[in-house]
Amino acid sequence: MQYLIAANWKMHGLAAQLVEIEAVAAAVTATRPKADTLICVPATLISRAVQTASGRIPIGGEDCGAEDAGAFTGDTSAGMLKDAGASAVIVGHSERRHYQRETDAAVAAKASAAWRAGLMAIICIGETDAQRRNGAAISTCGDQIAGSVPETLADPGILAIAYEPLWAIGTGHMPAANEIVEMHAHIRQCLTTRFGQAAGKHIRILYGGSVKPANAREILALPNVGGALVGGASLHAADFNAIIRAAE
Ligand code: PGA
Repeated sequence: MQYLIAANWKMHGLAAQLVEIEAVAAAVTATRPKADTLICVPATLISRAVQTASGRIPIGGEDCGAEDAGAFTGDTSAGMLKDAGASAVIVGHSERRHYQRETDAAVAAKASAAWRAGLMAIICIGETDAQRRNGAAISTCGDQIAGSVPETLADPGILAIAYEPLWAIGTGHMPAANEIVEMHAHIRQCLTTRFGQAAGKHIRILYGGSVKPANAREILALPNVGGALVGGASLHAADFNAIIRAAE
């Protein structure tokens, strides 16, 4: 599998920011990177982002409802994201697990909804600072995989896991290389135990949390790192393009 370099714009993105998507799409067209790329934007921007990208770079959503349709005011279904032109969706981001109190079961239901709609799912997991200090990082992430990843997604083409330690998101603090290596090896083992070697070996495990142009190359070179989920540095095309180039 090629690296997947995915942008997570979070609650940023007005029409004025479409120029950043144009700049990433133009760079991807010009340089034809070996990495797969994806820009996940707020639901309101998806169809315009898809128009701007015009097939040069796929666009994704940042969350979806667990149900296909119904009386769920304010929710956006996976099918709606797909209808707007999205090809992927992030589920279970730690900000949603924290602020919206999403449980592993809720995340699994959303991932299943993404699968039903034909979207690739990026399922996020990660430990808190306290969990790491208490020696519970590995068990926390193992439990999140067991609870948030549905059986139906056992396919490297439609599933990626993003390991994002909460204390590294938006903070500029990074785990040590050996901590990333240890965690990604554990996630790989969880996936192969659960889904078998054939599928489990190839599901991409992205690292996320303070990925920048300056550290991307080093992170991507680590074993079992299959790409990056990039927040802050994805909002500026120059930085995101530099991270895509780091995957070469
Ligand atoms: P960050 O965010 O790159 O700004 O740390 C990553 C994420 O939350 O996906």
